[in-house]
Amino acid sequence: MEKKILVTRSSMPPFEEYVDEIKDLWESRWLTNFGKKHRQLTKELEDYLGVPRLQLTVNGHMALELALTALGLEKGSEVITTPFTFASTTHAIVRNGLVPVFCDIRPDDCTLDASKLEALITDKTSAILPVHVYGNICDTDAIGDIAKRHGLRVIYDAAHTFGETYKNKGVGNFGDASIFSFHATKVYNTIEGGAVSYKDEAFGRRLYELVDFGIADEETVTGVGSNAKLNEFASAMGLCNLRHVDDEIAKRRILVERYRERLSDIKGLHLNPVQKDVKSNYAYFPVFFDPAGFGKTRDEVMDVLAGAGIGARKYFYP
Ligand SMILES: Cc1ncc(COP(=O)(O)O)c(C=O)c1O
Repeated sequence: MEKKILVTRSSMPPFEEYVDEIKDLWESRWLTNFGKKHRQLTKELEDYLGVPRLQLTVNGHMALELALTALGLEKGSEVITTPFTFASTTHAIVRNGLVPVFCDIRPDDCTLDASKLEALITDKTSAILPVHVYGNICDTDAIGDIAKRHGLRVIYDAAHTFGETYKNKGVGNFGDASIFSFHATKVYNTIEGGAVSYKDEAFGRRLYELVDFGIADEETVTGVGSNAKLNEFASAMGLCNLRHVDDEIAKRRILVERYRERLSDIKGLHLNPVQKDVKSNYAYFPVFFDPAGFGKTRDEVMDVLAGAGIGARKYFYP
């Protein structure tokens, strides 16, 4: 069969390493419910991401959905967000009984345009949910200032930014909380998985309970919760992949540098900008086509690439 080049391939540790990591689960028979692997991974990821606290979840979407719930925003209130994201961001807002209000994005890095935020704030606005899309960091200073001035909560969708830093700070330190995705297609994966990083302990307690049916302890159920626990096999995958993630990022960096070198001077092609003060994870390499200059539309380019066995994705489509 003709060799195909896929847009991405899931990172996996050496088979023996994973087998070794899961061996003790056959002795403990503790497969989920915040077990040893879960606790170890939480600690190691807090260190790696440089964040004070982290709650692991079953996927990035539930991280976002439950983090929004844990903020306790008034039902029916408005959350200002970006339309230029994966569907999960808006779904998390709507599934919380909140109303998404779309703010336009900056044309260069595709993140929420903070200069257009204030015009959208009404007496119904409760929060801002920007996305560090493609790993591009939002204008956290401007967004933070506006939120403070108007008494709004800020939660960042950092699904694309595992391991990135901005001004030497882990990207999970901005706003009230940030969410990460550890989906199989991401630069770091736990097969399926995700996390919320946050500072406030009371928020963390609410979130922990929401992740586990509202159960605070053996005798106490504080309210209605979900089930979004990361199991021990996924956590074990996370422990293994964390040992290799720096190599993964280094490999992607080489590819990104090659793309930049070869694609920079082509008329009608716009490459993702290099952001100042950002340590990138090189996870995405979006290219924008200006058909007038380049002579072909995005979809035509996709077809040509597909004909050559090269996978590309329309991000975001739908
Ligand atoms: C921007 C964004 N937010 C949220 C998610 C949801 O993450 P998950 O797939 O882990 O549920 C994704 C997923 O790919 C995403 O790209």
